[in-house]
Amino acid sequence: MNSLIDELICERRTKRGFLDRPVPLATVRDILSVAKYAPSSSNTQPWRCYVVTGEARERVTRAAVEAFRAGPEKLAPEYPFFPQPLHDPYSSRFNTFRGQLGDAQGVHRSDKAGRMRDVERQFLFFDAPVGIIFTMDRRLEWASFICYGCFLQNIMLAAKGRDLDTCPQQIWSLQYPVLRAELGIPEGEMVVAGMSLGYADNSMPENRMALHKLEVEEFTTFIAA
Ligand SMILES: Cc1cc2nc3c(=O)[nH]c(=O)nc-3n(C[C@H](O)[C@H](O)[C@H](O)COP(=O)(O)O)c2cc1C
Repeated sequence: MNSLIDELICERRTKRGFLDRPVPLATVRDILSVAKYAPSSSNTQPWRCYVVTGEARERVTRAAVEAFRAGPEKLAPEYPFFPQPLHDPYSSRFNTFRGQLGDAQGVHRSDKAGRMRDVERQFLFFDAPVGIIFTMDRRLEWASFICYGCFLQNIMLAAKGRDLDTCPQQIWSLQYPVLRAELGIPEGEMVVAGMSLGYADNSMPENRMALHKLEVEEFTTFIAA
């Protein structure tokens, strides 16, 4: 490995199970105070964060699980995630990943109740002590989503540098009515994503998955002349 930053980038993995070990709010604040140096188009800094811990975390997760149980089919995101149907090669990658995650979690594709339980865990922040909800002014356009990606990655790397792990969670966008009500998020803000933050439980198989990443030549064309 060439540098500490290379190491952090390569070692960061999405974790879907966390230890019952608190994270001081000062640490979360430190992470955000580093992440804010993310680049953004003309320094527009489109991010807005809601950090939920303690009683607020309990309240939000309880309401989100309730909404999910009351009618998963009624939950829709604030913006489109994927084209329907998703085409190849993305759909093959998607299915491979889903299969791998299901195997690690011990949940077969045909086990509807098991899959529901796993989605519920998303709305419990996978037991992480800290949840972050990310919103953005809904009048902004695609370019601001690119900026947001830079900001989210900064958070995940700054966390990793402190031995903390994360799960970025687009799925929280489905819970915008609950989040608006519980956190007082104004109508003008779109729920972009959520994130679980804590100390990963690496004894869980889903936290030890080896995912296939493309080779550079598979996604790059080098043009020299
Ligand atoms: C924008 C974005 C949204 C994501 N949303 C979710 C999500 O809602 N739930 C989840 O479990 N993982 C989510 N993930 C994590 C991806 O599944 C994960 O990054 C991918 O499988 C590659 O794994 P890795 O992060 O360990 O390299 C998201 C990742 C990104 C970048």
